[in-house]
Amino acid sequence: MTKAYTTFETIELTPEEVLECSYSNWSKFFPANIYPSKVVKPIPSSFLEYLASESIKLPGREVPLEVNSDNEYSDWEDDDEEEEQKVVEVDEQEASLVNFQQEVSKHMNDLGGVVTPKLNWSSPKDAKWILAGNTTKCTSIDDIFLLLKSSDHIVDDLDFPFSAVEKSTSLPEIEYELVLKQWQDVNPALEFRVFIKDEKILGISQRDLNHYEYLEGLKQELDQKISEFVYDKVIPTIGCHTTLDKYILDVYIPRPFDKVYVIDINPFSRKSDSLLFTWNELLTLDTSAIHDDSYEFRIINETNLGAFAKKEFSESQVPLDVIDASMDTEAMIRLAREWQDLQLQDNRDI
Ligand SMILES: Nc1ncnc2c1ncn2[C@@H]1O[C@H](COP(=O)(O)OP(=O)(O)OP(=O)(O)O)[C@@H](O)[C@H]1O
Ligand SMILES: [Mg+2]
Repeated sequence: MTKAYTTFETIELTPEEVLECSYSNWSKFFPANIYPSKVVKPIPSSFLEYLASESIKLPGREVPLEVNSDNEYSDWEDDDEEEEQKVVEVDEQEASLVNFQQEVSKHMNDLGGVVTPKLNWSSPKDAKWILAGNTTKCTSIDDIFLLLKSSDHIVDDLDFPFSAVEKSTSLPEIEYELVLKQWQDVNPALEFRVFIKDEKILGISQRDLNHYEYLEGLKQELDQKISEFVYDKVIPTIGCHTTLDKYILDVYIPRPFDKVYVIDINPFSRKSDSLLFTWNELLTLDTSAIHDDSYEFRIINETNLGAFAKKEFSESQVPLDVIDASMDTEAMIRLAREWQDLQLQDNRDI
C-alpha cells in the first residue's frame, strides 16, 4: 500500500511584500472602495514601547489630553508662569505622546466618534472580549488603547512582522501606523477572502466560518460581483502601483450587492488563515493552467459544516474558570486548591 503524503510547500515572501500590505500603502489606491479611515503615522516610540511593555499605565497619561490654546487668563501672571514651567517640564517623549493622543481624538471625531483600530497589518480582534459588546467598536481613546494593549495580534505586528520572510533576508525599518476606521455594522456572512497569484484568482472563501443558509442562494451573484471587481479593478491597480504578484484580498459586499469594499490586503503567507482551502491546495495550483473563472468559491454548507466548526482565536483564549477566578479572590483560592488536588491525583496515578 502506498502512503499518501504531500510535501510542505514553502512560500517565498519578501519584506517588501509585507510592507506593501501595510494599510496606508494599499488603501490609497482604492479610495472609492474603502470605508472612511484615518492613519496616524508614525506612532511615537514611547507609545510603541508602552504597547510592548507589561505595564498597563500609559506613560505621561496624567498630562491633560486637552491643551488649552486660547489663554483666557493671561492677566494671571502667576498662573502663566506656572503653565510655562509645566510645559518646559513635559519632556519631548511626553509631548509627542500628547500630540499623538490629540491626533487620535481629532481623527475619531472626524470619523463620527465610533471607530475600529488596527496597526499596519493587524486588527486587535482577538481582544474584543475586553470591550462591552464583544466587538472592536471603540467610542473613546481609552477603548482603543485597551484593545491594542490586550491583543496578541498587535504584539505580532510589533515583534514578528517579518516572521514569514526567509530568515537570511535583511530587514527594513518599519514605520508603524495606527489606522482608525469608521465603524460599520459589517455583516460577517458577506465577507470573503480572495487568494490571488500571478493575476489570477486561486480561490474565494467565506471569511466567517458559520453556516448562513441564505448564502447558497446568493453564491452565484456574489461570485460574479467579486470576480468582476477583482479582475477589473484590484488586479490592474495592484499591478500598476506595487510589485506584489501574490496577495490575499479581504472584501465585503453588503446588500444590495452593488459595491465591493476592500477590507484588507494581506501578505500571501501561512500567517493568514487559508479558511476553507488548505495552504497546500492553494500552493500546488498551476496558475498558468487556471482560467479567470476556473477557481472555486467555497462557502460553509450542510455538508462541510462539521469539518470547519473551529473556534476562532482558540490560541489566545483562557478557560472561563480562570477568567471568573481572576475577578474573585475566593474563586481564585478555590481554583488553586482544585488545581493542586488534580496534580496530587495525577502524581498518585503515575
Ligand atoms: N470599518 C469597520 N467597521 C466595523 N468592523 C470592521 C471594519 N473593518 C473591518 N471590520 C471587521 O473587523 C474584521 C477584521 O478586520 P481586518 O481584516 O482589517 O483584520 P485583520 O487583523 O487584518 O484580520 P486577518 O488577521 O484575518 O487578516 C473584519 O473581518 C470585519 O468583520
Ligand atoms: Mg488582514
